[in-house]
Amino acid sequence: MINNWKERFSENSRDYEGYPIGKTLKLLTDPEIISLAGGLPSPDVFQKSEMIKATEGILSSENINKVMQYSSIPGEASLIDAVINFLKRDNINIKEENLLITTSGQNGLDLTGRLFLNPGDIVMVDRPTFAGSVVAFDLNRPQYIGVDIQEDGSNVTGFRAKLEECKAKGVMPKFIYVVPDFQNPTGITMSLEKREALLDISYEYGVPIIEDSPYRDLRYYGENIPSIYSLDQKREGTNVIGLYTFSKIFCPGMRVGFNIGPAEVIEKMCNIKEGNILNTPKYNQDICTAYLNDMGLEQHLENCRNYYREKLNLFLDTMKENFPEGSGVSWTVPEGGLFLWATVPEHIDTDKLFIEALKYKVAFVPGWQFYGENPSNNHMRLNFSYSSKEHLVEAIKRLAKCIKDHK
Ligand SMILES: Cc1ncc(COP(=O)(O)O)c(C=O)c1O
Repeated sequence: MINNWKERFSENSRDYEGYPIGKTLKLLTDPEIISLAGGLPSPDVFQKSEMIKATEGILSSENINKVMQYSSIPGEASLIDAVINFLKRDNINIKEENLLITTSGQNGLDLTGRLFLNPGDIVMVDRPTFAGSVVAFDLNRPQYIGVDIQEDGSNVTGFRAKLEECKAKGVMPKFIYVVPDFQNPTGITMSLEKREALLDISYEYGVPIIEDSPYRDLRYYGENIPSIYSLDQKREGTNVIGLYTFSKIFCPGMRVGFNIGPAEVIEKMCNIKEGNILNTPKYNQDICTAYLNDMGLEQHLENCRNYYREKLNLFLDTMKENFPEGSGVSWTVPEGGLFLWATVPEHIDTDKLFIEALKYKVAFVPGWQFYGENPSNNHMRLNFSYSSKEHLVEAIKRLAKCIKDHK
C-alpha cells in the first residue's frame, strides 16, 4: 500500500498549488453572490447562431471523419492561414513556421514556461501581473523579479535597473513577461514609448520579451498602439514571442489560441506540445477558422467593443458615485479589456475583505494573487464584462457597503 503519495511527487509539482483564482471561484456557491471575480466574456456577445451554422458544415458527412480523428499538431492548415491573415491586419507578418496553434492562452503560457525555465531561473514581470502566467510558470519553479507597473505600463526604467543588478550578479532573466494591452489585472495599457524602450532593453541585455495579448481587439477608447511584436519586426528583430487566445474575442469554450515567434522557438514549443496534449481538437480549430473567415469578424469585434464600452462606462460612473473622494478607494480607468484594479486603504487586507464580501453577496479577486513575489494586499481585481448592468451597479453598492462597514 502506498500511503504517502506526496513523497513520490516530483520536486516541481510537490508544493505546486495551481490556480488560486480557480479556488476563489469555487467558494462562490451562493447564487445570490454577484461575482466581479472571473474574467469571463459576456454570453450576450457570443455568436451563437453563427456557431451552430458553422458546426453543421464542420460535421457534414464529408468532414466528420476528419473531425473525429487525430489531427495536425502544429495546427490545421486552414486555421494557420486564417491566423496569418488575422495578424496582417495588425501589421504582423509571419510565415507558417512562426506559428503554433495552442489549446488556448493558458497552454501557450505553459509551453513558454516549460521551454525556457529551469528551477531558480529568473522571470521579470510587472507588479501586479497576470495570475495565470505565474501559475503556468510556477510549475518550473522560477524566481520572479517584479517592478511596480505605472499608469502608462511597465516601469521600463525600473526593469533596466533590475537588469543592471542581474548583470552585476551574472544571472540574467530568461525573459520579461508583459501584457501590454489592457493588462489583466489592472486594465493598464503600455504607451508606444515604453514599448520601444522595452525593446531597447531587450536588445541591450539580450533578454526576450513574452508579449501576452488576449485583449488587443477590445479597445473602447483611444488610439490603437502597435504590438511589441510588430515593432520588433519593424526593427528586424527576433526578440519577441507573442501569445494569443480566442477566449476573450470569440469564446473560451473552444480553448484555442496561438503562439508566434522565431521558427526555432515555435518548433521546440511544438515538440513540447507533442509531449503534453498532442493536437488541439480539430473541431475547435475548425470553428475558430469559421470565426475568423465566415462570421463577420470586424463587425463582431465592433459589437463587442460597443457592448463592453457601455458596461465600462456604467461601472466607472457607479464606482465614482459609491466611492466619493475621501473614501480612500481608487481605481484604474482602462481604455479596453475586461478589468479594472481597485486599491483600498493600506490597513485593509483584501483577502480577508473577500470573505466579508461574500456575506454582502459580492465577490472580487483579492489582489495578492497577481504577484510573482512579495504580494501587495490592499488591491482587488474587478471584472465588468460578465455581470448584467443591473448586477454591476448592485455589486458596487454592496462592495461599498462592505468596505464602509469593515473594521
Ligand atoms: C493575460 C492573459 N493571458 C492568458 C490568458 C489565458 O487565456 P485562456 O483562457 O485562453 O487560456 C488570460 C485569461 O484570462 C489572460 O488574461
